[in-house]
Amino acid sequence: MPRYSRIIATGGYLPERVLSNRDLEQMVDTSDEWIQARTGIRSRHVVSAGEKTVDLAEAAARQALADAGLGPQDLDLIIVATTTPDQIFPSTACLLQARLGNRGSPAFDVQAVCTGFIYALACADQFIRSGTVRRALVVGAESMSRITDWTDRGTCILFGDGAGAVILEAADQPGLISTHIHADGAYADLLQVPGGLAEPAGKAVMEMQGNAVFRVAVRTLEEIVHETLGANDLAPSDIDWLVPHQANIRIIRATADKLNLPMERVVVTVDHHGNTSAASVPLALDDAARRGCFRPGQLLLLEAFGGGFTWGSALLRWG
Ligand code: COA
Repeated sequence: MPRYSRIIATGGYLPERVLSNRDLEQMVDTSDEWIQARTGIRSRHVVSAGEKTVDLAEAAARQALADAGLGPQDLDLIIVATTTPDQIFPSTACLLQARLGNRGSPAFDVQAVCTGFIYALACADQFIRSGTVRRALVVGAESMSRITDWTDRGTCILFGDGAGAVILEAADQPGLISTHIHADGAYADLLQVPGGLAEPAGKAVMEMQGNAVFRVAVRTLEEIVHETLGANDLAPSDIDWLVPHQANIRIIRATADKLNLPMERVVVTVDHHGNTSAASVPLALDDAARRGCFRPGQLLLLEAFGGGFTWGSALLRWG
């Protein structure tokens, strides 16, 4: 019998501290009007002193577990997608595992920047399809504010912190229909944090050529959507909901336009949390799920694009 994975629960968490566009006006030469017009962002959440990526991950994971009516020992696999781990090691997934009180299950991080959650979902799906794992917790958690240059108006207006989580379970019917992941490291220079352990040390903050990233993102997201539809013999009109990476409302609209999808069928949360990198797609999914947007049997297309460059998608049937 074919074996699939399906999402049985979601969770999300945004740190309490809110940074509005008006707050940013006090920090760099920008305006609320400019930010809203060019990005669709009104405010973002940022971690407070002492608040860690694992704190955000734990809150989202606990909500997903409660949603599923499961305990930590019910998890056979924990994957955390993050670009902003609290430590070099242990992985954020191991730190989260200890917090939750799960022992013995494999736990590891995936680093694919804004596409991290789609990569992690694709991994967990493969583990479940192969029969190795029955239930997996997949989390996207980020403290992007810790790698933000707060003097660079080209980047500091875009990003925010948060975490989203899903629980995947083995099922006889999909669930996840297909996942598609890609990368092209030749684009590293367009969006990067140069800092790391290599000598000489680069700056540990984001550097981005915004305009170039914008153009490649729009083109690549159109391609990944068509790849996903083509692989499943579907037309754009078959998609009930697009759950896109929340980077910029103009990128989201461009993808929806290319698909001829009305914005009523697109989940948009970028206005209140900005680009939360790997947390963006699961946060959008959780937000829409909690608002009761999705009905059982509806077809959802998740997509993301990010540093690397990396990009990917997941097609799934809800419920
Ligand atoms: N406030 C006010 N003006 C700003 C500004 C800000 N925060 N940031 C840039 N500007 C200025 C620029 O200096 C430029 O001024 P100039 O014409 O006098 O040189 C002008 O606005 C236009 O800049 P440009 O970079 O062409 O704007 P844009 O329309 O491309 O918007 C981004 C900039 C960053 C919003 C946009 O390029 C973007 O969203 N890129 C993709 C970023 C992204 O999603 N990255 C993550 C991918 S996962």
